[in-house]
Amino acid sequence: MFHLEIETRLRAAVSAVAPSADLATVQVRPAAEARFGDFQSNSLMAVAKALRLNPRQLAADVLARLDIADLCEPVEIAGPGFLNFRLLPGALARLLGEALRGGHLFFRPAASPRSVVIDFSSPNVAKPMHVGHIRSTGIGDALQRIWRLLGHRVVSDNHIGDWGTQFGKLLVGWKTLLDRDALDRDPIAEMERLYKEVNARCDADPATLDRARRELVQLQAGDPENLGIWKEMIRLSQFQFDSLYGRLGVRFDVTLGESFYNPELPGVVESLVAAGVARESEGAVAVFSDHTLPPKEDPLLVSKDGEWVDIPALIRKSDGGFNYMTTDLATIAHRLATWAPDEILYVVDDRQSGHFRGLFHVFSRWRPDDFGKSQLRHIGFGKILGEDGKPFKTRSGDTVKLADLLDEAEERAQKVVAEKRPDLTAEEWKEIARIVGIGAVKWQDLLPNRQSDYVFSWDKMLALQGNTAPYVQYQYTRAAKVVRDAGTRDAAQPVTLSEPAELALAKHLMNFGFTLQAAAEECRPNYLCNYLFELASHYSRFYEACPVLKAEEPSRSTRVGLCDLSARVLKLGLNTLGIETTDRM
Ligand code: ARG
Repeated sequence: MFHLEIETRLRAAVSAVAPSADLATVQVRPAAEARFGDFQSNSLMAVAKALRLNPRQLAADVLARLDIADLCEPVEIAGPGFLNFRLLPGALARLLGEALRGGHLFFRPAASPRSVVIDFSSPNVAKPMHVGHIRSTGIGDALQRIWRLLGHRVVSDNHIGDWGTQFGKLLVGWKTLLDRDALDRDPIAEMERLYKEVNARCDADPATLDRARRELVQLQAGDPENLGIWKEMIRLSQFQFDSLYGRLGVRFDVTLGESFYNPELPGVVESLVAAGVARESEGAVAVFSDHTLPPKEDPLLVSKDGEWVDIPALIRKSDGGFNYMTTDLATIAHRLATWAPDEILYVVDDRQSGHFRGLFHVFSRWRPDDFGKSQLRHIGFGKILGEDGKPFKTRSGDTVKLADLLDEAEERAQKVVAEKRPDLTAEEWKEIARIVGIGAVKWQDLLPNRQSDYVFSWDKMLALQGNTAPYVQYQYTRAAKVVRDAGTRDAAQPVTLSEPAELALAKHLMNFGFTLQAAAEECRPNYLCNYLFELASHYSRFYEACPVLKAEEPSRSTRVGLCDLSARVLKLGLNTLGIETTDRM
C-alpha cells in the first residue's frame, strides 16, 4: 500500500528529472532494517548508471521534485544514492483507520491482473499418494490462493498420470492375478501389488513382458475390455485422490490427465517433423540440438569427457508409443488455445528440471510465435529428508503414504491439544487436532525456501513455540478472543500509536500487501510464512507490553483495533497458505 504509493510518486519525480529513465526499474520496498527507516529504494543508482548521471546528484534532483511531505519525514539520501523513507506517525494512523473501517486489509488487488495456469499435484493412477506429494500439492495450492487473492485469474489443473507404459503391466496383473476382495478393501494397495508382482515377473520372464506390451498396444488401439479396466483403475484412484484433497482442502478448476491429450499426439509429432524441428533416429522420432544456443545453455546437449554430445528429446518411441515430452507439448498447445494465459506454472520436483528445460526449449522451436506470449516457468522444489539426512522413509524403509502421514499428524496433535485443554470434549480435541495437525505438516513444508531439501520432524512442526503453524494459529486464537471479549469498539475514537510495540505491530501489518506481491511474483509461499510468523511474534510482544481491555480511551480502541487487524491478517494469511484457524486452542 504505502510502498506502492511512494513508488508511484517516486516514479513521477524520476520521470520529471530524467524523462528517458526506465520507470519499471524504480522500486520501493520495506526497509531491510529499522535503522534505514520504514521503506527504502535502491533504484536510483541503476537509473543513474543507465543514463550516465551522478547518482547522488540524481537523487538530490529527484527529491527536489518528490511530493511526499504528507506521508514521510524529509527523505534521507544515504551512501551513493539510497533513499530512506520514514513514515509520519499520522500517516500510519490514517492507514490503520482505513483498514478498521473496512477500506482494505493492507493489500490491493493487482493493477493489471494476469491469467495463469498452475499445473500441480499431478499424481499417478494406481499408485498411492506418498509424502512427496505434499510438496507439489501444498506449494501449488498456496500459489493458487495467493494469486487469486491478488485478483489474478487462475486455472488450476491437475495433470494426473493416467496414461503410459505402466498400464500394460497393470492390465496383465488385473486379468491374471486380481484379488477382488482385496480390491474392495483397499483398491490402491491391490493395484500396487499387481504392478509390483507383474513387474518382477517381467524381469525374469520375457513372455510376461511380451504380454504386457500386447495389452498396452490393445489399450492404445481402443480395445473395449482393456479400456473398461483402465477406466476402472482411474475411477478407483480418483477416489483416493479426492479423499486426500478433501482432507487437505485442495481444489482444482480442471483435472485433465495425460490421457486427455492422447488424440493430439500423432498430430504433434507430424507437426514437429513438418516444421523441421524433429526427425527420425533409429526408428524413433526425436528433437536434436539445432546448435543455435551456446552449448552450456542448450538442454539438448550434455558435456561428456570434455565434449558436447546430444541428449535428444524423444517424442515417439520406435514401437510407435509417445513420450512424456510429447504429452507435455500437446498440453501447452491446449492451454494456450483454451485460456491464452500470461503464465503457465509447473509445480514439480526439481528432479524434473531437465525435462522442463527441454520442454520449454522444444516448444520455442516448434511454435516460435506463441512462445513469447506465455511465460513458461518450472517452479521446482527439493526433497523431504529423514532425521538421518536420507530421503524420508518409514522405519521399515518404505515410502510414507500421505494418508498415513496425515493420520499421524492428527493423532500427535490431539495429544498436544488434550494436554493443553483438558476442559474440552473429545470431539473438540479431534477437530482442533485436525486443524493443527494438517496445518503443521503444511507449514513445515511451505516454510523452507522451496528449492532446499528439508528434514521432516514431528517435534519441530508441532511445537507451540517457534516458527510453526501451531504457534501462528495460537496467536490468531488469542487475538480473536481479545476482540470477542472487547465487545464493540468505539469507532469514533481516533487511532493513536505511541508505544514502540504498537508501532512495530502496525508497521508490520502494513507490509502484508508487499509480502503477497513478492510471494506471487517469485512463487515463494515461504515469504508469507515468515511474514506471518513475524506478525504473530509482534502481536505477542504487543500483547505482553500493552494492556488492551483495561487501557483508557482512546488507547483502548486503538489496541482492540490492532488485535482485530492482527487476527484478520493472521487468519487470511494462514487461509491463503491453505491452513485453517480455530477459535479455540
Ligand atoms: N505425473 C508426473 C509425475 O508424477 C508429474 C506431472 C507434472 N506435470 C506435467 N505437466 N509434466 O512425475
